[in-house]
Amino acid sequence: MSAVPITTPPVPNDPGAFISLQGVGKHYGEGDATVDAIGSVTLDIRQGEFVSIVGPSGCGKSSLLQIVAGLLAGSRGTVHIAGRPVTEPPASLVYLFQQYSRSLFPWMTARENVRFAFEHHGRLDRKASDERCEKYLSMVGLRDNINRYPWEMSGGMQQRLAIARALAAEPKVLLLDEPFSAVDALTRMELHDLMLRLWKMTGLTILLVTHDVDEAVFLSDRIALLSPRPTQIAAVYTNHLPRPRHQVSTREEPEFLALRNQLLRRLLGAPAES
Ligand SMILES: Nc1ncnc2c1ncn2[C@@H]1O[C@H](COP(=O)(O)OP(=O)(O)OP(=O)(O)O)[C@@H](O)[C@H]1O
Ligand SMILES: [Mg+2]
Repeated sequence: MSAVPITTPPVPNDPGAFISLQGVGKHYGEGDATVDAIGSVTLDIRQGEFVSIVGPSGCGKSSLLQIVAGLLAGSRGTVHIAGRPVTEPPASLVYLFQQYSRSLFPWMTARENVRFAFEHHGRLDRKASDERCEKYLSMVGLRDNINRYPWEMSGGMQQRLAIARALAAEPKVLLLDEPFSAVDALTRMELHDLMLRLWKMTGLTILLVTHDVDEAVFLSDRIALLSPRPTQIAAVYTNHLPRPRHQVSTREEPEFLALRNQLLRRLLGAPAES
């Protein structure tokens, strides 16, 4: 059992919540070797929301996302998605890892990689299957690369292909674990814009883990700031920046700078401005 008593009371369930985390905790190992990763996290996310989770390195962000995905069992608490307890990976959810281009199959073309996302779900005839592949490859701007292999593509293109494959499963929830950190700054901004367009088109609920405060503020409706281990939610910030957001003008808004600086001060342990 966890060595650290957890005293944070869970807030009452939001009746409108689509994803609901209630007192989620996680420790690894036993006895002296116990690592108290997550103390207690309670968070409600509404359908169609874009929520980011930021926190110090090693505070348990990936563990938390894996618990939401049903890939890892929590030590305490519950996760519900659409009212159902998560005990295994829900079919309505897709999880994208940091190095997600590595999850592509190099021996398959772009079309075959995308087809892989849904071919197990049910029988589609060849024409319907091809149309679905083309639809999602077009959505990420890769229609002209449909017969290319991942290794014939740039890193940014591979990441767009991984996004197309994720969306082709037609999930309701997309979990992203630091997905934009391995690319250069300009490609990252293009991927941000793409992700926001796709989010708007699909109505997905997105939960993003990132260590990049600017990215969190640029993309999200709300930002949950985690404390160091054993992790709790230190604060949840609502982001009132208007949409659509623009890579240059949004980042110049006083509200963008105020929120980003507030988050950075909390993360760096600097005193708040009076
Ligand atoms: N399988 C495991 N066994 C033991 N300890 C683990 C395991 N996985 C994670 N941990 C520990 O739990 C804590 C949280 O890890 P986790 O990877 O969830 O944090 P994180 O916030 O995603 O880290 P980072 O910022 O480096 O991505 C860390 O101290 C880590 O060493
Ligand atoms: Mg991590």
